[in-house]
Amino acid sequence: MPRFTLTTPIYYVNGAPHLGHAYTSIAADVIARFHRLDGHDVLFLTGTDEHGQKVEKAAAAAGLDPQLFADRVSGQFRRMASLLNISHDDFIRTTEPRHKRACAELWHRAHAAGAIYLGHYEGWYSVRDEAFYGADELETLPDGSRVARESRAPVEWVREPSWFFRLSAYQDRLIAFHEANPDFLAPSARRNELLSFLKSGLTDLSISRTSFRWGVPVPNDPDHVMYVWFDALANYLTGVGWPDENAPRAAFWPADLHLVGKEIARFHALYWPAFLMAAGLPLPRRVFSHGWWTVEGEKMSKSAGNGLDPETLVETYGLDALRYFVLREVPFGGDGDFRHDAIVARMDRELANDLGNLAQRTLSLISRNLNGIRPDIGPSTEQDAALRALAAALAPEMRAAIARQALADALEAAWKLIRAANAYIDHQAPWALKKSDPARMASVLRVLLDVLYHIAVLLSPFMPDAMATLLDQLAAPAEARGIAALATPLPAGTQLPPPAGIFPRFAARATAQAAPC
Ligand code: MSP
Repeated sequence: MPRFTLTTPIYYVNGAPHLGHAYTSIAADVIARFHRLDGHDVLFLTGTDEHGQKVEKAAAAAGLDPQLFADRVSGQFRRMASLLNISHDDFIRTTEPRHKRACAELWHRAHAAGAIYLGHYEGWYSVRDEAFYGADELETLPDGSRVARESRAPVEWVREPSWFFRLSAYQDRLIAFHEANPDFLAPSARRNELLSFLKSGLTDLSISRTSFRWGVPVPNDPDHVMYVWFDALANYLTGVGWPDENAPRAAFWPADLHLVGKEIARFHALYWPAFLMAAGLPLPRRVFSHGWWTVEGEKMSKSAGNGLDPETLVETYGLDALRYFVLREVPFGGDGDFRHDAIVARMDRELANDLGNLAQRTLSLISRNLNGIRPDIGPSTEQDAALRALAAALAPEMRAAIARQALADALEAAWKLIRAANAYIDHQAPWALKKSDPARMASVLRVLLDVLYHIAVLLSPFMPDAMATLLDQLAAPAEARGIAALATPLPAGTQLPPPAGIFPRFAARATAQAAPC
């Protein structure tokens, strides 16, 4: 069975989960589910990033020990995953012993290869961004203080002994790697940015701190803790059981896909490959970086208090509508604006009208006119054949889109079929054939059932609950719910359950809470 390993970033525990985190996890979940449906042996990793000065400070502000604080917030991320129906196989916490072991071993190997040396660090550091900045990346404010130009985070001058990673020594290898692997970092605009950054020259990277304690200790130098990105990136190895070569998941490395937000693409496409090269480990196959959400045109931020809470979103719109919307509204890779009217419009137009009505009309005609028995496949007209061909093309089309992480394209392919099926039902008008041509009515309904079957299976990674309900309504047995099963028609003669609506219109959602934005 082909293997597929994919990861989300591990989330910082210095704040509660919001729509941005939910987005990365939902997208990764759809890709993981699609691969499973396609018969792959999937390893899907997620987790929390719990070390660093930011967490230490946030814990102190909450009057808590950092571990207790991390436990609490990590628990919130775990709950977010379960609320969003995320099907991860493991949840890695960077405070776990297995992770500290992986970090220490990665350090050892890089050190043994001569890639790590002790020096002094002096420079502008932002606690909030966990990053050092060059003077050219800063802006001086009227009060004389400095901030990082892009993130607006305050920076302070820091001087301390530090271990360095010899990043400069990897510049040529990294350039050669990116040139030989043009698909490694996507979308391509980010790759171009990265290449020009790479070619402008790399300086060595400070990878330890002595100014705070909350981190993984540096082997043989306990005054230092590891720089949070060295620690965090190693989580992907922790997840496959590394460095234990006999770990059951050892064969799942290298990862096929690291899914990340655009602001952390550089860490994954540059630092991470360099660390792995130093340790003599295979590099991941691809990094895809997605865009950012704003809310009603505003940047999400703690201070603006508009960081949409995934729980409220699920209560308001329903989980599957939320999952659908965030992946449908913007091409994956681009930025998006989360607007209440936009999600409601898509729920009503695309979910309730296009898909919900297609299922409802087909299933209630079968219930009323055929006693709810699945009809046989009849003689095929040209229109039947055209619609069937479109349905048969959907799996390969979606597979190709998912392989490029073009999640909105995958949904559009499904909607092309849904729109064609709606045009077909309107044109064939099976409701008018009951007396005049019942055999033709049954054939038309059978074509529509088969189309719905394809749609329900192939959309199940996006909307697992709603599509499971539709597959129940189609009486598709558990073993017929994978992509390979679509090649075999469901047998005629099966009794279908009484039809029930799948997608309520937004206004009809029982709870009708106030919009969260
Ligand atoms: N801890 C690091 C990742 C280490 S991975 C080895 C981190 N954590 S994070 O919690 O800040 O962000 C995690 C993910 O959430 C990123 O992929 C990021 O892009 C995503 N989002 C956070 N805010 C976002 C939006 N407003 N919109 C979309 N996604 C954004 O970075």
